[in-house]
Amino acid sequence: MNDTPLPIVRTVAELRAQVAEWRAAGLRVALTPTMGALHEGHLSLVRLGHAHADRVVASIFVNPTQFAPHEDFDAYPRDLAADARMLADVGCDLLYAPSVAEMYAPGFATTVTVTGVSEPLDGQARPGHFAGVSTVVAKLLLQAGADVAIFGEKDYQQLQVIRRMVADLDIPVTVLGAPTSRLQDGLARSSRNAYLSDAERQVAGQLNAALAKAVKRLQAGDPVAEVEAAGKAALTAAGFQRVDYFEVRGAEDLSRLGPGPVSGPGRVLAAALIGRARLIDNMAI
Ligand code: PAF
Repeated sequence: MNDTPLPIVRTVAELRAQVAEWRAAGLRVALTPTMGALHEGHLSLVRLGHAHADRVVASIFVNPTQFAPHEDFDAYPRDLAADARMLADVGCDLLYAPSVAEMYAPGFATTVTVTGVSEPLDGQARPGHFAGVSTVVAKLLLQAGADVAIFGEKDYQQLQVIRRMVADLDIPVTVLGAPTSRLQDGLARSSRNAYLSDAERQVAGQLNAALAKAVKRLQAGDPVAEVEAAGKAALTAAGFQRVDYFEVRGAEDLSRLGPGPVSGPGRVLAAALIGRARLIDNMAI
């Protein structure tokens, strides 16, 4: 337990002043962008930040522009005080928690759109989502001016979209992906797991099991089309109400692979709905 309260800044100016001070002292800075409702997965990002930098800044901003009107923006869990305590306990150095008005000043009119990698999968299932993510992440990266930025591999498509954007816009930051933090049955840690009832929680574990089975089959040379169909069927049989996708894609640009066996680096990605929780997960082949 760390008794020292975590310094919190609310404005771009305060954030930049602190980062500039660290930089002037020759220190490297890492940024871990989050939407709060922190869990062990987020804390692992902060720890990875410490392995790559001298100071770690976490941001908490529930970004309205990446939620569609029917999605869970209002219901998204928020507890800044609890989040700040958890961040202090893992040695985070600064929390940046801007208001919506600070992030999107009146008259805000710019959107960053990444084509290609943002279009399939969640790009189709959640129209507009990645434009919201790219825009806010571009802003966070430019606001913080950190040396390193860390994102979880659980949101694998998001990570690839951000990598593309940073390369295309020459944003001077190194993007690192952190391995997915999992519960005992393999369920990926997610703030949205809080929506699951006990019964739904049992079903949710099957997402990881279906991905693991798909990876095994693909490694054995089974055709992509068969493995994708079997994955979808397994999730429906397990009790998921809706399967948005269960697809095998190229690891970097998320281009379609198959219908035959996989050659080259690939990733299996899935999204499915159980109760109020839309869960996503992925696994390297
Ligand atoms: O992964 C998230 O929590 C969010 O999409 C991010 C990267 C903080 C942007 O709002």
